[in-house]
Amino acid sequence: MEQYIIKGGNPLVGEVEIGGAKNAALAILAAAIMSDETVMIDNLPDVNDINVLLDAIAGIGAMVHRVDRHTVKINGKGVTSVDIEYDYIKKIRASYYLLGALLGKYKRAEVALPGGCNIGSRPIDQHLKGFRALGADVEIEHGKIIAEAAKLVGKHIYFDVVSVGATINVMMAAAMAEGLTILENVAKEPHVVDVANFLNSMGANIRGAGTDVIRIRGVQKLHRTEYSVIPDQIEAGTFMFAAAATQGDVTVMNVIPKHLEATTAKLLEIGCEVEEFDDAVRVVSKGGLKCTHVKTLPYPGFPTDMQPQIGVTLALCEGTSIITESIFENRFKYLDELARMGANVKIEGNSATIEGVEKFSGARVSAPDLRAGAALCIAGLAAEGITIVDDIVYIQRGYERFEEKLRSLGAVIEKVSTEKEIRKFMLKVS
Ligand code: EPZ
Repeated sequence: MEQYIIKGGNPLVGEVEIGGAKNAALAILAAAIMSDETVMIDNLPDVNDINVLLDAIAGIGAMVHRVDRHTVKINGKGVTSVDIEYDYIKKIRASYYLLGALLGKYKRAEVALPGGCNIGSRPIDQHLKGFRALGADVEIEHGKIIAEAAKLVGKHIYFDVVSVGATINVMMAAAMAEGLTILENVAKEPHVVDVANFLNSMGANIRGAGTDVIRIRGVQKLHRTEYSVIPDQIEAGTFMFAAAATQGDVTVMNVIPKHLEATTAKLLEIGCEVEEFDDAVRVVSKGGLKCTHVKTLPYPGFPTDMQPQIGVTLALCEGTSIITESIFENRFKYLDELARMGANVKIEGNSATIEGVEKFSGARVSAPDLRAGAALCIAGLAAEGITIVDDIVYIQRGYERFEEKLRSLGAVIEKVSTEKEIRKFMLKVS
């Protein structure tokens, strides 16, 4: 099992290129099969989740041609099956975006029901509510969702919960329904807007993405397009908090500063200097950071995917911070690992009280999920001594060349998988 081994203490300094947004790319790849013409998508992050979804898309018969690590051509004309096997869903929940894409185009889809994951139960009732409202029969049989419709007809749909996945999935199905669909109480994340823009570049008629109401006029066909995925605001924020936690000076390149406003606001609140450029943001921390409070909310609020990263940073800020996780019910597991590095934390339900400490001491920790894994690496970078992070397969699902990018900023970090490699690292750094 691969691990990261880190020698903490170096401030991160320099510039780092941010890749394409994983959570936009996953939905865009699924939507790409809705055309019978060739679609080219670039600025894809080269991460495991993307590669698994491309396998699933090829698995149902679509043409998938990897032009390079960050560019793919897809043609949905060859799709012969609307049945997405469980092992794809087990590997990556976002395969469920194929539900909306296949239902929209073929009026039928069979996708294994995604399970929960490490951060919560993550039901998909709102996705199914939307499909049913558009006129689909949706049954769950033997762990599979079977959705089909003689035709899909536009409807006025009000989501009970603000859900990124449900907003995107139902938007995709509605893009090829008949008539006008109005979606209310929708998610407004940048990646929702990116998927809407992608669909519109294929000839869809979607207005209002990024606002509280999305209006979709269904079309018969979607055509070829070339599209570039937006930068990943969560990868960018991860490096921004790494700069804060290590008293560094990091500029994240190829970003959209507006997408980072909630992160920037919190960094300023705790005492970092933040400078915004057209497509870059610079974060400088000279230490002496102060506590603050944060509540995760749907966009434009503070993103839940940045909660572990700010949690690690606040654990090194003077004073008492409080984090309220309002999106997922089980997203504080990393704090137990952080306590083993010397953090002073107390979890009560969906809030965590964090008393800042002077420093962390390196330890062997385990990554409970993607963002928590990245956050524990930040803790290791700031800690005194050696930290080993297990289960980094989670981190590799969503961060491209994570250790290489950190090393380019001065981090002492390597990917290892044997005791011999660990001993070699220890000799090298001692
Ligand atoms: C997306 O998950 C992201 N994943 C998550 O990022 C992110 O944390 C989340 O949005 C929130 O921003 C992808 O885009 C692939 P939701 P999603 O539906 O769509 C409840 C990462 O680290 N809910 O917005 O599954 C749900 O339980 C991942 O990249 C329902 O109740 O999230 C949660 O409490 C982790 N019924 C809340 O809504 C539903 O039908 C928000 O979930 C759907 C969701």
